[in-house]
Amino acid sequence: MYEHSNTSGQNQLTDITEELMARPAYRPSIPPPPGHGARMHSSARSHPPLNSMRSHFPASHTPQHSFIPQLMHSDLSHQTVIVVGGTSGMGFAIARLAIAHGADVTVASRSADKVAAAAAELGATGKTLDTSDEASVRDFFAAVGPVDHLVVTGSSVRTGTLKDAPLADGEFTFRSKFFGPYLCAKYAQMNPTGSITFFSGILSRRPGHNDAVLAGVNAAVEAMGRALARDLAPVRVNTVSPGMTRGTSAYLSMPEAAREGMYSSIASKLPVGRVGTAEDIAAATLMLMTNGFITGVTLDVDGGGVLV
Ligand SMILES: NC(=O)c1ccc[n+]([C@@H]2O[C@H](COP(=O)([O-])OP(=O)(O)OC[C@H]3O[C@@H](n4cnc5c(N)ncnc54)[C@H](OP(=O)(O)O)[C@@H]3O)[C@@H](O)[C@H]2O)c1
Repeated sequence: MYEHSNTSGQNQLTDITEELMARPAYRPSIPPPPGHGARMHSSARSHPPLNSMRSHFPASHTPQHSFIPQLMHSDLSHQTVIVVGGTSGMGFAIARLAIAHGADVTVASRSADKVAAAAAELGATGKTLDTSDEASVRDFFAAVGPVDHLVVTGSSVRTGTLKDAPLADGEFTFRSKFFGPYLCAKYAQMNPTGSITFFSGILSRRPGHNDAVLAGVNAAVEAMGRALARDLAPVRVNTVSPGMTRGTSAYLSMPEAAREGMYSSIASKLPVGRVGTAEDIAAATLMLMTNGFITGVTLDVDGGGVLV
């Protein structure tokens, strides 16, 4: 499953690049090679394969000098990637995918046992961190040093009804899911070519019942991502908004039959006919980390959930 997601992610980047190459506005402003003018200016359906076009570029437009390989570049060799929440679920899958692309990965969360287990399974560095504790965040980032890519999946939330839930539960949720990533962005020593990826969720725009706090905190995370994309530029800042995703610890407190029933019920309503996997989320996150032209976006990875 993991290998499959990885491969399909790369194919997607290649497809996007070739589609861009077919559009006049995105082509490098160089004359086509002799005999290729008609093909270079033909419709999207008949454009030549990217590799054959590359071989005709003059030296000044070889891949390392053009925008094309930046779109396709997913090699994370010698890059430091911090995954806060990387001991479980989506964060774990992101850490595993980043390692497969050559990154030096550190996973972090509150539980020392979970950190040790995840680090051993991944072959990553592991450190404890509680994002709701400012001193913990400050000391963590002072210890890890410069960061190329920061991903914050880690958060804890408390749910309840408007009438019955104590205000402290809502404040706990905002402290963890909004101010946790906020503090990570504040203290991380980001390299200017790097990226930060936050996590919100589909409830910001498709709330169910009793979701006022979760809808609000997810919308706040997305707004923070846009604001910090300006404040921290040229560091890129984006947000992933997952839909219902299996393979995480989010719903493990439910009995298995009830959990599978919930997945089936939601899958039957989604355009793609299934709920997501942690690997779906990881592939999308890797794209945001490595595409140097994307910043300030919220990327819905939800099987079309916002549409239904
Ligand atoms: N799963 C879904 O269907 C879904 C849908 C929409 C949005 N999301 C969002 O996507 C993100 C990832 O979800 P997931 O399902 O992959 O989560 P998960 O499997 O429950 O993992 C959460 C991770 O965060 C860590 N964590 C929790 N509070 C923390 C804190 N204060 N400081 C540091 N680490 C903390 C946990 O480890 P420790 O216990 O060791 O701290 C754990 O490693 C979350 O923001 C979630 O709200 C999930």
